[in-house]
Amino acid sequence: MKEIIEPFRIKVVEPIGFTDQAERERILGEAHYNPFLIPADKILIDLLTDSGTSAMSAAQWGAVMVGDESYAGSRSFFRFEKVVRDITGLKHVIPVHQGRAAERLLFGLIGGVGRHVPNNNHFDTTRANVEFSGATADDLVVDEAKDFDSDYPFKGNLDPNKLRAYIRTNAARSIPVIMLTVTNNAGGGQPASMANIREVSEIARENAIPFFLDACRFAENAYFIKLREPGYEHKSAKEIAQEMFSHADGATMSLKKDGFGNIGGFLALNADVLAEKARNLLILTEGFPTYGGLAGRDLEALATGLEEVLDERYLEYRLACSRYLADHLTEIGIHVVQPPGGHAVYVDAKRFYPQIDSLQFPAQRLVAEIYSKGGVRAAEIGTVMFGKKDQTTGADIPSDKELVRLALPRRVYTQAHINYLIEIFAEVFAEREAARGLRIVQESPMLRHFTAHFKPIT
Ligand code: F0G
Repeated sequence: MKEIIEPFRIKVVEPIGFTDQAERERILGEAHYNPFLIPADKILIDLLTDSGTSAMSAAQWGAVMVGDESYAGSRSFFRFEKVVRDITGLKHVIPVHQGRAAERLLFGLIGGVGRHVPNNNHFDTTRANVEFSGATADDLVVDEAKDFDSDYPFKGNLDPNKLRAYIRTNAARSIPVIMLTVTNNAGGGQPASMANIREVSEIARENAIPFFLDACRFAENAYFIKLREPGYEHKSAKEIAQEMFSHADGATMSLKKDGFGNIGGFLALNADVLAEKARNLLILTEGFPTYGGLAGRDLEALATGLEEVLDERYLEYRLACSRYLADHLTEIGIHVVQPPGGHAVYVDAKRFYPQIDSLQFPAQRLVAEIYSKGGVRAAEIGTVMFGKKDQTTGADIPSDKELVRLALPRRVYTQAHINYLIEIFAEVFAEREAARGLRIVQESPMLRHFTAHFKPIT
């Protein structure tokens, strides 16, 4: 097989932050062992997130220059709306500054005490917005997702049996929406199949419940369907994406992912009354409905990005990147979630550091080690992010998984950067037995992973 090469050449470059290990150890201490608190110019390879960190294309930068900055009725909005409608088929397109703003609008209107929102897995901001409204957020992903080693091709599927039972238990009228996150970020970046999207939408329709996609990584999900689901091998990624959205009544999307944007998002939906309410709320917090907190130039760049992301040469290369990284880590003996997701590789920190108890944050420790050893930044997806609190004692209840997410920004790093990363992992792996856990010394009541302070346990 021929090597899958980067389907672009580089026109603009940016230096990255070289430091030495002694400097990094000092920085890590000053950042209280929290990667979110490390200044970005002290990071060599930044895999904290694939969100807003993509490289824009020459065509996107060109589009920036023709952005129409009119307060109302901007030409750039109408172009944006047309591109979003072309892919999603959804009637109302409401721009917002990023994904969570769409979530805030949606759950501000349809959430509330006594309501229940199912999803394959809620991403942290989605869960926080559902819960902030007073509703409960429940994860109904298929059981295959819990087995990291299984190579089940659609571990992002929402379990239809669990969903039917959930509707029986909670009553359809208490469920304002059924969400499906594609790809399933909090569950390892795994795709949902078209068959599953179709079945979940049928269950939703039978029960008169709206069905929404959290569509942040819809293009990657579409290409996984093309590669893995019989009957789709000859359809284009765009046709597959259109079919995915055809089953939905609405979508929230952070365009900082598959929109190739540094900022942006949308809420799109068919229901007229809800759209009207969302627009009124939008004016209150984000801005007039033809810009929604974005500049005209952002809308132009995002429209171009949405057209580019469905290029199959790009998608083939994109999924090959995570596969390459996952295969090389596996060769070293490191366990990663299989099969690798589209935007990230998830390292199983429980098996990397079996000696560290979940309540001493093995994944956070691994994040600290790869920074200290190689200046690489990654994110903990474990008890720091998803641990719960005992309501009476306030004690931590561990998450069922301890993962380190290596998120790959789009079109940013070359294969040599990834090879360097693999070397760093090999070194950290060789020293794994000496590692000890961390303890939290300061935290906030919500989304604590962004700001918590840690100290090493000696
Ligand atoms: N939904 C999913 C599935 C996401 O992955 C994110 C963001 C959001 C919603 C919220 O979008 O950041 O634009 O407000 N995920 C980023 C990440 C932050 O690192 O995975 P946002």
